[in-house]
Amino acid sequence: MKPSFYRAVLFPAFAAALFLSAPGHAEDDSRQQTRVAFPVIDAAKGQELFVTEGCVICHSVNGVGGKAGPTLDAEDGNTVIDVFDFTARMWAGAFAMVELQSQELGYQFDLTGEEMAHIAGFVYDRKQQLLFKESDVPDLIRDMFIKTRYDLGTDPSSPPK
Ligand code: HEC
Repeated sequence: MKPSFYRAVLFPAFAAALFLSAPGHAEDDSRQQTRVAFPVIDAAKGQELFVTEGCVICHSVNGVGGKAGPTLDAEDGNTVIDVFDFTARMWAGAFAMVELQSQELGYQFDLTGEEMAHIAGFVYDRKQQLLFKESDVPDLIRDMFIKTRYDLGTDPSSPPK
């Protein structure tokens, strides 16, 4: 390889590559950015899952459902689906939910990320919630509603007896 080729082509190309890959370079769009993947959220599908996955056995929305867990009514007029808040709330309740599910139902619900997103859509969408009626729940599931609040400290250092 001729030295002039190195000087004229390879070195500038190499220098440019180094320059572009330097962190914080404004023109750099070659770096991979971590992004948030966002599923398509369908609150009506979320309502269906709320019933078929058994959430409704323990939680009420719009006055329909069990009372073992807190109501999942959205605030009036709310239009923001806060997925991270939903995840944090699910996690905070996880210990009690898993415990009560295994006691009462003998299984633990198993949801895909997409299903979770639809349910979050329903939990935050007051408009959709106001359409939710007792008649949307099959008798079989309605008969399973737990009518009393499940009282369990979530402090893992004092598990239930
Ligand atoms: C067997 C009963 C049971 C089932 C079924 C159940 N939960 Fe719960 N859930 C609870 C209880 C009890 C709590 C309250 C935990 C606590 O007070 O620490 C809770 C807490 C929660 C919370 C946090 C409450 C808040 O206001 O922050 C969310 C959100 C939640 N559940 C969503 C769901 C969803 C969605 C489903 C269905 C996929 C579901 N739950 C199924 C019993 C249940």
